[in-house]
Amino acid sequence: MNKKLLNYSDYLKLEDILNSQKLKSAERGTPAHDEMLFIVIHQVYELWFKQIIHELDSVLVTFNKQSVLEPDVSLAVSRLNRIIEIQKILIDQVRILETMTAMDFLEFRDDLFPSSGFQSTQFRLLENKLGLLRDARINYGGKDYKASILEKEKQDVERSESESSLFQLLENWLERTPFLSFEGFDFWDQYSEAVRSMLRNEENVIRNNPNYSESEVEYHLKEHERAVSSFEAMIDPIEHEKLIDSGKKRLSHKATQAALLIFLYREEPILHSPFNFLSRLMDVDELFTTWRQRHALMVRRMIGGKIGTGGSSGHAYLKSTADRHKVFAELADLSTFFIPRSALPALPDHIKQNLGYHFKS
Ligand code: HEM
Repeated sequence: MNKKLLNYSDYLKLEDILNSQKLKSAERGTPAHDEMLFIVIHQVYELWFKQIIHELDSVLVTFNKQSVLEPDVSLAVSRLNRIIEIQKILIDQVRILETMTAMDFLEFRDDLFPSSGFQSTQFRLLENKLGLLRDARINYGGKDYKASILEKEKQDVERSESESSLFQLLENWLERTPFLSFEGFDFWDQYSEAVRSMLRNEENVIRNNPNYSESEVEYHLKEHERAVSSFEAMIDPIEHEKLIDSGKKRLSHKATQAALLIFLYREEPILHSPFNFLSRLMDVDELFTTWRQRHALMVRRMIGGKIGTGGSSGHAYLKSTADRHKVFAELADLSTFFIPRSALPALPDHIKQNLGYHFKS
């Protein structure tokens, strides 16, 4: 039997892909030149979203285990690196769309109602898989964000809401970090004492500064008091829990401690990969925020203060999502509590030796 030779077009299903640009403006007899770009760029975005989900799913599988080995963490870091490179392209390609002017867009904008990027199922999957919570979403028109998604795709989005997100898996993994209390070394006690001593020093410096007037000392002490209370709130698990209950924090106290330990002692070989992992998660989150900001700016240029084709307030809605739809911002906030290397509690020798390369949680 003759085996049919594989052909480039067949393998890539180019016939399907290249025949999937149907201009709505052409259907009504007045083709708008720029509608082709508009369709192609959205399709390219969706293909990249597909690739990002593919990478993200593999990271979710890795972290959905009781034990995450060091090579697995490194592999997850390389998958996140790939996502990051794609995200940079996603941000950059907004510029291509901006070669279309607002007037060009008007040639076919009315043909698009009521469809909108708001209905992108893959974008919602991505948000949910990362860990954006339904209750944290900015609502518009009092409708659930899934209301306008195609019925056949809604199930996928619902499933992604109930499955463990990367945020949850990260939290579980951090909570299992073995070094928080390790062979007589209690990280939290030692770290708290180091910070308190640093804060006491700072207070002394303010009180004894010969260049400050009495009112200046009072002013600086008040500011200092704020730093002390914010630190004490973060040290105390009960205060931390209160912040979680009031929605001001999300990451558990134990996971927060572990993340801090990783950031502070990242030079220890065993903490390299965990540190890289946390850093890449911050990158992914920041790049999504950058994309949201970039998209919002482009939208303002295209439609000014008009409402979106999906019915939102347009630019204003998108700007709020850029401000609020973040998942790993708490990791970045931890730098508030960093202390200089010279003030860090020294790790006892036996612990340093134990921080070998075998990270088993
Ligand atoms: C002329 C170009 C574009 C305009 C004027 C535009 C406008 C808008 C507006 C106004 C919204 C808010 C929802 C609504 O009321 O419709 C929105 C949402 C969205 N758009 Fe675009 N958009 C454009 C291009 C793109 C491109 C190229 C993508 C790539 C996939 C995209 C993806 C999205 C996504 C994912 C959302 C949902 C964002 C969220 O809810 O957080 N848009 N767009």
